[in-house]
Amino acid sequence: MNSISNRKPVLAANWKMYKTVSETRDFLNAFLPLVNDLSGRDIIIAPPFTALSAVGELIEDNRLVSLAAQNMYFEQEGGFTGEISSIMLKEFGVKWVILGHSERRHIFGEDDRLIALKVKSALENDMIPILCIGEKLEERESGLTHEILERQLSAGFSEVGSEEAYQVLVAYEPVWAIGTGKTATPDQAQDAHFHIRSWLTSRFNSGIAGQIRILYGGSVKPDNINELMSLSDVDGALVGGASLKPDSFAEIASCRVE
Ligand code: PGA
Repeated sequence: MNSISNRKPVLAANWKMYKTVSETRDFLNAFLPLVNDLSGRDIIIAPPFTALSAVGELIEDNRLVSLAAQNMYFEQEGGFTGEISSIMLKEFGVKWVILGHSERRHIFGEDDRLIALKVKSALENDMIPILCIGEKLEERESGLTHEILERQLSAGFSEVGSEEAYQVLVAYEPVWAIGTGKTATPDQAQDAHFHIRSWLTSRFNSGIAGQIRILYGGSVKPDNINELMSLSDVDGALVGGASLKPDSFAEIASCRVE
């Protein structure tokens, strides 16, 4: 737990489009015993939709590990071929939902408005949104990082009221660090996280901003997690590649938390 706040650390695995149901079972059978003795943190697994049921069964009643979806649509049901809704996800025990991941934004063309409607829908349907934001390399190199983060935050929180804002998690994932092996330096990560928290303070207030958990994502590995978690505004990590192997994600999930 962050010493100056009561923000519970979060270590989240984003499996993207990896793992069949049988690979998922193998992962959990190896992973769960490795994290059994941990406490004081939320460990989250976001498998592909087809493996939600298998994860849900294997972590049933687990006090530490819980289930996330990688995306959802904002409507409950209807003629939306290929989409999935919160009521469908909740049947599997899904508690969290990753929204606005850079791959959704840049490969599938999701825009700020669509993401805002998804955040709203998640909150209305008792799911915790993990709102992903982050700048591209050319935006960072042009000195636009803060501006991009502000634009994504103000859109992502546009439908969120003060009474519910504390529930939202923000994941700062610089696009140039995702899947590239390039992690933001501690200074770059802390600067962005501090900027995000300052924006949240001006949009809501310092009490609410102090409760919102801000995760870092982008080439998080067992050998950089402790340094990232030691930064005062980093409350957790969203992990892609290094979450696919039980040993490696268990090492990350076992990081030092103060
Ligand atoms: P990575 O992915 O850890 O493989 O960089 C992170 C993410 O996309 O959430």
